[in-house]
Amino acid sequence: MRILVTGGTGYIGSHTVLSLQEAGHEVVAIDNLVNSSEESLRRVAGLSGKAAVFHRVDLVDESAIDAVFAAHPIDAVIHFAGLKAVGESVREPLRYYHNNLTGTLNLLRVMDRHGVRSIVFSSSATVYGEHNPSPYLEKMEIGANNPYGRTKEQIEDILTDLGAADSRWRIALLRYFNPVGAHPSGLIGEDPQGIPNNLVPFIAQVAVGRREKLMVFGGDYDTPDGTCQRDYIHVVDLAQGHVAALDFVAEKPGVFRWNLGSGKGSSVLEVLRSFEKAVGRPLPYEVTGRRPGDLPAFWADASLALADLGWSTTRTVDQMCEDHWRWQKNNPHGYNT
Ligand code: WQD
Repeated sequence: MRILVTGGTGYIGSHTVLSLQEAGHEVVAIDNLVNSSEESLRRVAGLSGKAAVFHRVDLVDESAIDAVFAAHPIDAVIHFAGLKAVGESVREPLRYYHNNLTGTLNLLRVMDRHGVRSIVFSSSATVYGEHNPSPYLEKMEIGANNPYGRTKEQIEDILTDLGAADSRWRIALLRYFNPVGAHPSGLIGEDPQGIPNNLVPFIAQVAVGRREKLMVFGGDYDTPDGTCQRDYIHVVDLAQGHVAALDFVAEKPGVFRWNLGSGKGSSVLEVLRSFEKAVGRPLPYEVTGRRPGDLPAFWADASLALADLGWSTTRTVDQMCEDHWRWQKNNPHGYNT
């Protein structure tokens, strides 16, 4: 099939473009490059031997999206494009609602006009909010506690209502846990602009000498080692989960939601130790105060994706850290290296 990948030059997007091409699909990628580089797709082409078509498009420009659908017969869409920093979303809610919601509404209107009604949406475990017990189950009530998470929740609602109103739609809502790692080639990986918000990219920048030390946000949580636990998932496992979801909705109309996670939690200190193993030396860190909004521990119940899609994670936290380190070591300044 010919798949449109929005946010296709991003971290998860570029890994998914590669998995799609390896599965025999043609890819048209669009991205506004606000938080990524087209270099990622050039490297993906080197790995797959096939060049994805790329158009620099901002989803808030509906006519630009329409031009892409007019130029390429699209069979299905994987929708990654969106702003995704929790803290930033609290400071700039209007920018997040406009970018993430307007962009998605534009995309869906253009899809409908062109008769393209298969979509895999990049949602997030953050929609489960702070009241659900772990492991999270897809059937649980959702309720995000920050603007970024609320955009994901509201897009899930939009897609759910669309699927209920028109049975021709085929919709997969994928709730990611914590994506980390990189393709084992070390050629593509996570390249956050500015100071990384997330744990593993920050540790990687400490290891490569760009940051002085890791600040561990809180060591007094009610967890085995006092630091927060999260469900980390290798980005290649995650990409393959998208291909599996795409194949599923290609056959079945309706709206489906799946957790994409490993089903187990790892603490901040456990991840740090694992990264030190990959690097081969201790890394400097300091335990500081808690980060506002952080939950002590959560992870996925991943059994539904296994039952429906035959998909589960295969790579360990150690492999995630080894692969992430290979990318960072080879590309100390990301794609601007
Ligand atoms: C993990 C743990 C931090 C940085 C977020 C979003 C979620 C998704 C993934 C988009 C926490 C601790 C972190 C640091 C630290 N993003 N930490 N020092 O918060 O679980 O999830 O990213 O979809 O929506 O909410 O991930 O990597 O930021 O933090 O101690 O410098 O690492 O306190 O316990 P999080 P994270």
